[in-house]
Amino acid sequence: MKKIAIFASGTGSNFLAIHEKIKEKYLQCELAILVSDRPKSKAVKNANLRNIDTFSFTPKAYPNKDAFEKEIVHILKTHEVDLIVLAGYMRLIGPTLLKHYEGRIINIHPSLLPLYKGKDAVGQALSASAVQTGVTVHYVDSGMDTGTVIAQESCPIYDQDTRETLETRIHKIEHQLYPKVIKQLLEEK
Ligand code: GRF
Repeated sequence: MKKIAIFASGTGSNFLAIHEKIKEKYLQCELAILVSDRPKSKAVKNANLRNIDTFSFTPKAYPNKDAFEKEIVHILKTHEVDLIVLAGYMRLIGPTLLKHYEGRIINIHPSLLPLYKGKDAVGQALSASAVQTGVTVHYVDSGMDTGTVIAQESCPIYDQDTRETLETRIHKIEHQLYPKVIKQLLEEK
């Protein structure tokens, strides 16, 4: 069975949505490990509660990105990970991880890329008074939200929307779209 690793820095609602789809057997894969750069994040707490293996680290404890990514690569190899799923991992992937996993790392971003790259894509869409935004799943390269797009789904923005209501609507789309794309990739490879 194929093995995936999920990388998350914060809440981890996508991580939990994917985990549910594995438990339901919609996704035929094993969640080998949750990797996090925030040991105190909700994502790590939830992984521990569910007895999912974790590797959480404090970036500042390492001399540079290469050093912690080398350790991550070692852990991923030990767990025989086939696909890396970034789900709210708030760091650019560096050359060390890319060298080993390029083409096997995907990310989800809350906008219709190439619109609203980088941080706070939801805030960017609201500030632009856009009437729609969306969700993109893409391969990860060395840039910020620049890799090849795999799937996109749009999401309307209503006049009365607040950040919270829009984020909720976007998350709902993410929790369906990400497992769907992962399923497709696992079946392809
Ligand atoms: C999601 O909106 C995702 O698109 C972005 O970060 C957010 C993570 O949310 N990359 P969560 O931690 O999965 O709840």
